[in-house]
Amino acid sequence: MTKNNKIKIFITGGAGFIGTNFILYMMKKYPDYQIINFDSLTYAGNLNNLKSIENNPKYKFIKGDICNPGEVKPAMTGCDWIVHFAAESHVDRSIMDPDTFVKTNILGTNVLLRVAKELEIKRFHHISTDEVFGELGNEGKFTEKTPYDPRSPYSASKAAADHLVRVYFHTFGLPITISNCSNNYGPYQFPEKFIPLFASNLIENQKVPLYGEGLNIRDWIHVDDHSSALDLILHKGKIGETYCVGGDAEKTNLEITNLILKYFKKGDEMIEKVADRAGHDFRYAIDFSKIKKELGWSPKVNFEKGLAETLKWYQDNQDWWKKIKSGEYKKYYEEQYKNRS
Ligand SMILES: NC(=O)c1ccc[n+]([C@@H]2O[C@H](COP(=O)([O-])OP(=O)(O)OC[C@H]3O[C@@H](n4cnc5c(N)ncnc54)[C@H](O)[C@@H]3O)[C@@H](O)[C@H]2O)c1
Repeated sequence: MTKNNKIKIFITGGAGFIGTNFILYMMKKYPDYQIINFDSLTYAGNLNNLKSIENNPKYKFIKGDICNPGEVKPAMTGCDWIVHFAAESHVDRSIMDPDTFVKTNILGTNVLLRVAKELEIKRFHHISTDEVFGELGNEGKFTEKTPYDPRSPYSASKAAADHLVRVYFHTFGLPITISNCSNNYGPYQFPEKFIPLFASNLIENQKVPLYGEGLNIRDWIHVDDHSSALDLILHKGKIGETYCVGGDAEKTNLEITNLILKYFKKGDEMIEKVADRAGHDFRYAIDFSKIKKELGWSPKVNFEKGLAETLKWYQDNQDWWKKIKSGEYKKYYEEQYKNRS
């Protein structure tokens, strides 16, 4: 491996929400590391996110598809670590078009694993989600030992990818780690997702589409806390292990909606209750005691403070999301919500 201060990281999906934030976090904290951002720039990939570092000699963007080994192999050659974010990530889209999710999230992950094995990569870190565990009732939390029970095409494709990653460890000895994280929030999140969608709608004085009665519960983590967990797993995590990463902030969708309405000084009349998502899991919650005990990690960002800072970012960066909302996303959004009441 290259010397520790010269580590070269191959990041997939770095032009998306979490990948962007992770690259910015790592380049600030480890200015000597080299970063390759490998991304095919789907509707969710946005190089404007990374304008501030595009001329940094330690950073390189390569446009490529994780499903194409001919593009992956030359780009991955010479890298020490893989951090694999690239995925189709929106549950609603997976319900409308499962095939794309199977292709990118399962077959794409398999291509990366195969090439990583061939190149004898020193670490393959796979970014997964708490959604692979299915849903919880009012009690209990997910741990690394919770059996998988995915319930949407998105979570099923992520679950299959997790299994493949473990298979490459057990069968081929590829040095892997996996993290299963809860819902992230922060800057640069595509405005089809809950928090940026509601923030941008309210800034434009449009109603916000709340699923059902808004009683579904998610654990929320600030994207910088996710990045700090990944940083620790990469540097100190044990090969072959999985780490559950959570924000210690369980909230109903309605609670979050009310916080967003309050921030923008809007009333309940801006809520438009829409038909619930098919198979909408009731509750996710994460027990992150393993990463806390073994690596000394815990989330640092208080949810209310982190949410207010995030909403301010969407308020201050309207050009960023307005460009997205007026483009391809607009067609998708109109299609998706046209039959909802
Ligand atoms: N957003 C969350 O709350 C959350 C929570 C837990 C886990 N995750 C996982 O984290 C990862 C990143 O999520 P996100 O919210 O940043 O997603 P995102 O949709 O914002 O970004 C995905 C990125 O992957 C790229 N991509 C998609 N298909 C590709 C392909 N075939 N080849 C190369 N690049 C491709 C896209 O262009 C985009 O830049 C995903 O694996 C997701 O499952 C997300």
